Amino acid sequence: MTMKQYRDYYFKKAKQEHYPARSVYKLQEMDKAYKVFKPGQRVLDLGACPGSWTLYAAKQVGESGRVLGIDLNVPDTVFPAQVVFLQEDIFSQSPKFVEQIRELAPFSVIMSDMAPKTTGNKNTDQARSIQLVEAAFALAETWLDVGGTFIAKVFEGPDVRSFVQSLRSRFAKVTMVKPKSSRSESKEIFILGLSLLDISDENIG
Ligand SMILES: C[S@@+](CC[C@H](N)C(=O)[O-])C[C@H]1O[C@@H](n2cnc3c(N)ncnc32)[C@H](O)[C@@H]1O
Repeated sequence: MTMKQYRDYYFKKAKQEHYPARSVYKLQEMDKAYKVFKPGQRVLDLGACPGSWTLYAAKQVGESGRVLGIDLNVPDTVFPAQVVFLQEDIFSQSPKFVEQIRELAPFSVIMSDMAPKTTGNKNTDQARSIQLVEAAFALAETWLDVGGTFIAKVFEGPDVRSFVQSLRSRFAKVTMVKPKSSRSESKEIFILGLSLLDISDENIG
């Protein structure tokens, strides 16, 4: 698909299906392939604006589930009742942020579609993207339930391999996905950590 065809197709589809951004189809593709969401789950969505992933997750977890969306910006999107939205910098760790996370934790899914503001400098952008993924995983280490799923977008670059490697001992399976709905010229890929392992036993005795 050319860039223009891509824009037109997913843009129209998102509009028809009432999603504020076409990025929803990347999450949908991963969900279909890996069966990420189930009714009743609690989901943490990092970098949630304008709200497509949050809306998609809210539909999948249903009214008995909860989705906590966090972003620097406030979305215009109207969310269903199972969504809580918080305007925060994920690096802030403000008392409000920690309190809200603690209230809903543990999460079955922690996902991050966060992206840095691009500078045009490839190395700087990649380094910032890795920092965001590391911050997302630091939250997952504390607040993701055993058996839970971690999904994070990252810009491809030299540091990605060692980060992915560091996840391998923490999840039953770690994989990288380039969804069909992600533009081929885009540097983004998604890291999936499937089924967080219970390593607490290793720490006893
Ligand atoms: C590609 S958009 C996310 C799109 C969203 N998943 C959707 O489907 O609507 C990336 C978002 O990451 C957010 N972001 C970047 N750095 C952040 C940070 N430090 N804390 C919270 N959000 C951040 C940006 O504000 C931006 O809204």
